[in-house]
Amino acid sequence: MPEFLTQIEPVKQQALAQLSAAGDLGALEQTRVSFLGSHGKFTALLKQLGTLSKEERPMAGKALNAAKVELESALADRLSLLESRACEPKESTDFTLPGRRRVLGKFHPLTQVTEDIVRSFRKIGFAVADGPEVEDEYHCFNALNTPPDHPARDTQDTFYLFARGDRGAEDGESLLLRTHTSSVQIRVMEKQAPPVRIIVPGRVYRRDNADATHNPTFHQVEGLYVDRRVTVGDLKGTVEFVFKELMGPETRIRFRPHYFSYTEPSFEIDFSSALTRKMGKAWLEIAGCGMVHPQVLENVGYDSEEWSGWAFGFGIERIAMIRYGINNIRLFYENDVRLLRQF
Ligand code: DAH
Repeated sequence: MPEFLTQIEPVKQQALAQLSAAGDLGALEQTRVSFLGSHGKFTALLKQLGTLSKEERPMAGKALNAAKVELESALADRLSLLESRACEPKESTDFTLPGRRRVLGKFHPLTQVTEDIVRSFRKIGFAVADGPEVEDEYHCFNALNTPPDHPARDTQDTFYLFARGDRGAEDGESLLLRTHTSSVQIRVMEKQAPPVRIIVPGRVYRRDNADATHNPTFHQVEGLYVDRRVTVGDLKGTVEFVFKELMGPETRIRFRPHYFSYTEPSFEIDFSSALTRKMGKAWLEIAGCGMVHPQVLENVGYDSEEWSGWAFGFGIERIAMIRYGINNIRLFYENDVRLLRQF
């Protein structure tokens, strides 16, 4: 073998050894320069090519070229290995560290109370019904025995979307924001033949000035039960069951005679429990109820000789305020997490 060719292999081996020993990108670059740089050992061999005889040159050129390709590919491999190592985290990961917790949100206290009420009524076979908040006068008042000149209209003044006689509701009646969920009693009975067993949680509106216990928008739950031979005893037993569930097992209730135009007889419901005693009261008024007025049953096409029923309505805010000891209704609507977090 010509003398020149014997020089190539040792330089190449040396270069390969140093490349694979280079521990970081700096060391690798140094190795590259010392062999392939303009004054590098391998470059020096390349430069000698021109000094060789014509016979020697082709073989030497071929050998040098093969070695160069081998060195460059070894260099590229080492470079990508060291680069990927540089991206790895310096410290190892501690898999025993506690994870980052996501803060879980909570339901609004009004939603919690509503869901509790719904759950209790579901246990005794009541279904949830719904109706429009923008209601017509007929369903909110007239069908419930409350004609336009009825004094009960004054206590339930509301926001009207069209004044009477306007082009609004097709029958010439006003549209309004419903003052109570009782309108849904009518809508359900119009659509469904008896028996009926529903509760209606929902938002209602009154033209009230906001204070600690009033807000122009609030929430109610309506209940309606229509069947054959329904009695006040059924009403009282049902109300007692639900309030015991909501306010604790030692809760007692009492009925006081009252007046609602859509029930006869009508009652106000008071309850007494550890919660009322905490507020310094033996009894607290909590709901209105009564036996559905026969005229209301006739208004929806039910035969009032065959069917009878009871209904009730109460405010969800009031229940939540008593249950959680909240003394200002407006706190419910401010959505301040410092309050909401507590329930
Ligand atoms: N609608 C009444 C109110 O808003 C509550 C009420 C009383 C509902 C008696 C009833 C009922 O269904 O029978 O104050």
